[in-house]
Amino acid sequence: MTEFVIRTEGLVKDYGSVRALDGLDLRVEQGEVFGFLGPNGAGKSTTIRLLLDLLRPTAGRVEVFGTAPADDPSVRGHIGYLPGELAMRGRRTAGELLGHLASLRGGAGADRIAPLAERFGLALDRPVRALSKGNKQKVGVVQAFMHAPELLILDEPTSGLDPLLQREFLDLVVETQERGATVLMSSHVLSEIEDAADRVGIINAGHMVDVDDVATLRHHAGQSVELRFAHPVDVAIFAELPGVQDPVVEGATLTCVLHGEPDTLLKRAAEHHVVGWSAQYRDLEELFLDFYRLPTDTAEEVAA
Ligand SMILES: Nc1ncnc2c1ncn2[C@@H]1O[C@H](COP(=O)(O)OP(=O)(O)O)[C@@H](O)[C@H]1O
Ligand SMILES: [Mg+2]
Repeated sequence: MTEFVIRTEGLVKDYGSVRALDGLDLRVEQGEVFGFLGPNGAGKSTTIRLLLDLLRPTAGRVEVFGTAPADDPSVRGHIGYLPGELAMRGRRTAGELLGHLASLRGGAGADRIAPLAERFGLALDRPVRALSKGNKQKVGVVQAFMHAPELLILDEPTSGLDPLLQREFLDLVVETQERGATVLMSSHVLSEIEDAADRVGIINAGHMVDVDDVATLRHHAGQSVELRFAHPVDVAIFAELPGVQDPVVEGATLTCVLHGEPDTLLKRAAEHHVVGWSAQYRDLEELFLDFYRLPTDTAEEVAA
């Protein structure tokens, strides 16, 4: 039987007249890295705050480790939480703040502050209020991971980290999974989490619209492909190829969306002189526009 570390059923949350969550069902399995994806305003942070009992549901059920967070505050001690918006003020240095947080946890993780800070290039002797957004994010990462919690709930963890540190962060997530922990991390960009996530749930307008493993989602999202030829080519030769969508030729450049394997497209292209190429997995906004066939104006609203 699958064990769910996180389970919500029909979760509803209203802020006054704004319905932020509209019957959200979320299940995160023991030991998986679950990517929680959706455009800004979709309800990711609201869901996360409900999981941590920072908010109470309007209707529906929340369970973390099999109990409602409101019924058993001790569950919080097994969770590492990285908030989406970190408020860090005061004169304390990053090292003092992190040391203080460790002492609140009975000293757990104090010995991991220095190695984690070094790994992410965080200066521990600077006052937190003087830190850049990226450095504040690093403080957030260290405090979430340092006590080796069984569950990590990370709200847009890679935002503000430069690409090299994003990679370092994803390595840390994978190591965390390898020691048996469960990870839920949100993002509005698939490419920021797809390398670490086993499954991805897409939330839009307060409910789950799709849950898939990452390979399936990549297949649905497709890749944006550009092929540059030495001479102009006829678009018709690419039109009927399997997996090729919306081929357009301008001059000697073909652009299209590719679903699945590139094999037939590459073989057809290779019949001509190819001088350049690129292929990129498309981001979530494009996936929303395309895979879910949302009308453009709705998609713009949800992405706003
Ligand atoms: N404190 C709040 N008061 C009123 N509306 C809120 C509040 N927090 C979030 N919302 C609204 O709830 C919806 C979901 O927000 P949020 O959970 O922050 O989404 P996400 O994290 O996916 O960007 C949005 O429409 C947002 O404007
Ligand atoms: Mg958010």
